[in-house]
Amino acid sequence: MRARVAMLIGALLWLPLVSANEDNDESNENYETGWAGTKCSPPEMALDGNSVASSSTDYSKVMEVMFQGAIGPLGERRLCKIKCINGEWVGPLCQVKSGGGKYHPLFRSCHFGALPPQLLVMYKNVSIVADTRLPFPDGAQVSVRCRELGVYKLLGESSLTCQNGVWSHEVPNCIPTTLLTNFTDDAPPTVLVRVPAGSASVEPDGELAVFPGSIVHLECVFARKLGNPEWSWSSSFRQYLTGWAISAEERDWKYRLSIYYSKPQDSGAFTCTTPHGLTNSVTINVVAIHCAPLEVDDPHVTARVEGSRLGHTAVFQCPTGFVLNGTANLTCHATGKWSGPPPSCTPVRCPRLRDIGDPHLELIEQNTSYLGRAYYRCRWGYRLTGPPGLECGSDGRWIGDIPRCQPVHCPPPLPPANGRILEAGGRALSDGRYAVGSAVQFGCSDSHQLMGEPTIVCTENGFWSHKAPLCKPRCPYPGDPENGRIAPLKFYYEPGDHVKVTCNPGFVIRERTATSRPTCRPDGSWSEQIPSCVDYTQV
Ligand SMILES: *[C@@H]1O[C@H](CO)[C@@H](O)[C@H](O)[C@H]1NC(C)=O
Ligand SMILES: *[C@@H]1O[C@H](CO)[C@@H](O)[C@H](O)[C@H]1NC(C)=O
Ligand SMILES: *[C@@H]1O[C@H](CO)[C@@H](O)[C@H](O)[C@H]1NC(C)=O
Ligand SMILES: *[C@@H]1O[C@H](CO)[C@@H](O)[C@H](O)[C@H]1NC(C)=O
Ligand SMILES: *[C@@H]1O[C@H](CO)[C@@H](O)[C@H](O)[C@H]1NC(C)=O
Repeated sequence: MRARVAMLIGALLWLPLVSANEDNDESNENYETGWAGTKCSPPEMALDGNSVASSSTDYSKVMEVMFQGAIGPLGERRLCKIKCINGEWVGPLCQVKSGGGKYHPLFRSCHFGALPPQLLVMYKNVSIVADTRLPFPDGAQVSVRCRELGVYKLLGESSLTCQNGVWSHEVPNCIPTTLLTNFTDDAPPTVLVRVPAGSASVEPDGELAVFPGSIVHLECVFARKLGNPEWSWSSSFRQYLTGWAISAEERDWKYRLSIYYSKPQDSGAFTCTTPHGLTNSVTINVVAIHCAPLEVDDPHVTARVEGSRLGHTAVFQCPTGFVLNGTANLTCHATGKWSGPPPSCTPVRCPRLRDIGDPHLELIEQNTSYLGRAYYRCRWGYRLTGPPGLECGSDGRWIGDIPRCQPVHCPPPLPPANGRILEAGGRALSDGRYAVGSAVQFGCSDSHQLMGEPTIVCTENGFWSHKAPLCKPRCPYPGDPENGRIAPLKFYYEPGDHVKVTCNPGFVIRERTATSRPTCRPDGSWSEQIPSCVDYTQV
């Protein structure tokens, strides 16, 4: 009884849970070990390094899971499988290209620990930005070199092979040369390359590829006072001029070898040896290589192409408002290929602005294009501090600060002279200011009359709706005398107003001294008491 369910799970990578089992060889096609009854629980799976939930498949009937495994740092795919044996997933076994479709156990992959910063790792002719987590599959061959040609010297093997989780050699180191050590005589010499005529390119493997006919100066950097270094070369084609440089600023520290009108037969290693026997080499390969003309599709890209010979460069630019997507400089390499694809120009986009958590601030529009703008406003009762807008700059960053909102307040209301605040609807701040919407009601003291609006409101723009009222002095209605009337009849009398007292028929004003015309004085009091009317028979 053999159930065989194959499933293809796109780009799945197993988690370490499922470990390689070297005893399990696909040549043994018979799974003697009990399929009968011992089921496997759903396997743990990962997609692009992230754990994913097992599908709803009922794994109790699954005996084998096939999937595309991402193997190695470049994401190559291989068909792999794991098998359920005795209730345990075993594997993975992966197809080997050369193996005629056979599956083989996947041995452990290798990792780099902390790499020296100057060390450059090449895998399958691709420069790998060494990440300590990147797995290199069993059998992977990597070459390493030091970043700056001639300035560091590689100490160790330049080629490493992954052998079941272990590198074939210790990871090499890059040691600084004389230019970096201030010419100490315990450092290997720096070798600088200068190509005053012709063209050359530093290849990914660290070799210097030179177009035939070029002039190459190799400068061995060494303190002349410590003695003379020596140049040697692997080619037996010809002798080369060597000696200290001529110019005053170079003659004491550059020991030069010159290759004039280089030819393919000049190819080989050129080594500078110090009097102490320390060496550093540059490998030169003279080849007549042309790269195919560059084809730039993007109409926005401006290219300055030196030519299409080995070592020629192309420099690319984008207009303002675009960002260069790709590499700005390409070099024609000895493979006949440019060092990369030509770049494209992508319109600048500023990141979308988000709510910054201020409940009073509102983003009302944003245009993330170059020169696009974003606008903010504040909710009712608040106002922006600073400009309301930001502009998207040519570098894809917003120019300007996100504004803030501060509450709008009206200044402390001033009670009029001879008046006071009767009631304030809304709380005054400690400094006497009021929030938007607060209402303040005024009243006047006795014998004063309120002129203007008795109630003012704090408006959204931080001003009161009206001026505070005035309290003007006034005389109250003094009341009619008994048996008489006053005229005119008003609630209040202004200073200067006077009233005339008229007695009813048969009555006269009692006081001889009285004028019968009391006047309202400037302080709001009457000039005299309202005279009283008495029966004329009693006078
Ligand atoms: C790497 O490049 C060299 C030439 O520089 C070439 O001979 C070789 O085939 C390339 N290897 C791969 C894996 O592409
Ligand atoms: C380099 O060495 C010279 C002399 O040996 C010394 O004067 C100078 O300060 C050194 N420079 C540095 C950067 O160490
Ligand atoms: C950059 O170019 C690559 C290849 O041409 C493309 O896949 C990618 O989407 C581009 N990136 C941007 C941000 O335009
Ligand atoms: C590209 O080349 C130009 C001129 O050749 C040079 O000034 C610039 O530094 C180079 N840029 C990069 C990123 O290599
Ligand atoms: C965004 O701003 C740019 C630059 O001002 C303008 O050309 C474009 O039309 C704007 N886009 C929208 C959708 O308003």
